[in-house]
Amino acid sequence: MSSSDPTSAAGPAAKDPVDTVPVPGPDQEAAAGDRQGGAATTEEPAPVVAAAVAADVADAAAEAEIETPVEAEARPAEAPPVPLEVDIDGDNEDGDSAYASDTSSRRTGSITSSIVEYQYENGRRYHAYRSGQYVLPNDEAEQDRLDLQHHIWRLLLKGALYTAPLKLPDPVSDVPVGPDDAAFRILDLGCGTGIWAIDMADELPQASVSGIDLSPIQPEWVPQNCRFHVDDYEDEWTYRADEKFDYIHGRALSGTVADWARFYGQVRAHLKPGAWVEMQEYDAWIFSDDDSCARAPWTMEWVAKLDEASSKFGKQINVAKHHKQWMIDAGFEDVHEEVIRIPIGPWAQRPDLKELGRFERVHMQMSVDSHTPALFTRVWSYSEAQVQILMEGVKNEFRSKDLHLITGYRFIIGRKPATDTS
Ligand SMILES: C[S@@+](CC[C@H](N)C(=O)[O-])C[C@H]1O[C@@H](n2cnc3c(N)ncnc32)[C@H](O)[C@@H]1O
Repeated sequence: MSSSDPTSAAGPAAKDPVDTVPVPGPDQEAAAGDRQGGAATTEEPAPVVAAAVAADVADAAAEAEIETPVEAEARPAEAPPVPLEVDIDGDNEDGDSAYASDTSSRRTGSITSSIVEYQYENGRRYHAYRSGQYVLPNDEAEQDRLDLQHHIWRLLLKGALYTAPLKLPDPVSDVPVGPDDAAFRILDLGCGTGIWAIDMADELPQASVSGIDLSPIQPEWVPQNCRFHVDDYEDEWTYRADEKFDYIHGRALSGTVADWARFYGQVRAHLKPGAWVEMQEYDAWIFSDDDSCARAPWTMEWVAKLDEASSKFGKQINVAKHHKQWMIDAGFEDVHEEVIRIPIGPWAQRPDLKELGRFERVHMQMSVDSHTPALFTRVWSYSEAQVQILMEGVKNEFRSKDLHLITGYRFIIGRKPATDTS
């Protein structure tokens, strides 16, 4: 990776025009139904989750009756997903809830104008550095979506930010260490708005957190032990041998990488022996436990075409389910995956899922707006009007009280062998 010399990147790999917005026919609906799934377990035994996090998670989970990663570990590997129970009589309407995060302290460095010469398309703003490499916008609406999803990620972990069993040194004081003085070095790949990195730096004053992204959309005032760089993790990483990391984290990077084997090779090379990588990913697919998928033709057409378009572009988006094997293939040990399924909308019986469903429905509506325009106009040659019609069709289905649609979130961790001192 290098933080200098932005260049233009090629556009989409292929164009396969269509004339109209498709309304799926019965065959496609059947195929969509066949594609539903949503495994809720992992085939591998899990490592021990960090004691402190596990204790907090277990307490909170006991209150809310949500399955924790620890409980999930106890489940038989081959168990089918537990169907999400529908709340037939209860309050399925949206409530209100706040989400926010604290920041403070240090102003990060200046940025060059070429990095902020953003590209505009379909009324959305896209990154300038390595222009065209990443298909989601970086404007205010997208930043709001990422910050809302950050709240969902934290709700899933009962407030925790990570699941890897990190062995952190005790903090010397509450005052954050300087960015170069930390005994524990964390790298956040594709940090987006920087909200996870900032929360980590606030929570772990003894650690330093570096966030990198193609877009300089992070706040200027950040904790002293946190910093951000504009950089491309698909480049050759140029960290020195004495700059290896104690923990590397990536969240929601589906659809951003062309060569995951190379990606994991670089992650492994830049971790200290015995250090953890953690990927927190969402399935770019929609599931149901009943026949909802078959009754949601716009949605199933949307995810299928989105995934196909991302493949044609060269960075497939529905890949969360592959990370576990990719980590194993890259030589990581103690690889463990946790899958959590959440409803789109407040239709589930369980109060915690009802709350998650409210947030996820808003988040998914925003996701439709951010994921559709670039890929569908560039790869499928949709007009702006066709994109709008498709997006409205999908969002209408997300709003339907008769559909019980489900998304999947995954937490995947792996450890670099302690014997690997390379
Ligand atoms: C879906 S967002 C997730 C942001 C953040 N991790 C979060 O969970 O809120 C993906 C991020 O990866 C960044 N990205 C995509 N490709 C990248 C690359 N090759 N190098 C660095 N950042 C990249 C995008 O700019 C975007 O901010």
